[in-house]
Amino acid sequence: MQEREASLVSHIVLDHAYNPRNLGPLEAADGHARITGPCGDTMEFWLTVRNGRVDQIAFTTDGCGSSLACGSMATCLAQGRSVADASAVTQADILRALGGLPEATEHCALLASNVLRAACEDYHSKSITEPGKE
Ligand code: FES
Repeated sequence: MQEREASLVSHIVLDHAYNPRNLGPLEAADGHARITGPCGDTMEFWLTVRNGRVDQIAFTTDGCGSSLACGSMATCLAQGRSVADASAVTQADILRALGGLPEATEHCALLASNVLRAACEDYHSKSITEPGKE
C-alpha cells in the first residue's frame, strides 16, 4: 500500500492489509469461488462448513492492499456464522467493519462480498447434490 494511500485509511485497514487473516488456499473446501472484478483483480474464497456454519475460510487476491484488507475482513465476518448469514455479508458490512475506504477503492469490498457469496452458493449447489453434507 502506497504511503499516501496508507495515510487515508483506518488502522484497521492497515492491520488487515499488512497482516491479512485467513490467507488461502484451503485444501478440501466445501465451497469455492474465483471472480475477476472489473478492475482486473482476481479474488478467490474457500470455505468448509460444519453443522451449517462456516468452519474454516480462506481467501487470496492478486489485487491491491485494499483488496487484501477487504478479503481478510470478509473472512473474519463470515467465520463461525451460518452459511446464509455469511452469504449475506455485504460491501457495506465490510466497509463498516474496516472503518471505511477511500471511494476509489470501495469496489474492493464489493468484489470480496461477491466472491464470498459465490463460495457460499457453490457450497449450497454441492450440498444439494450430496445430501447430508450440511
Ligand atoms: Fe481491484 Fe482493489 S483495485 S480489488
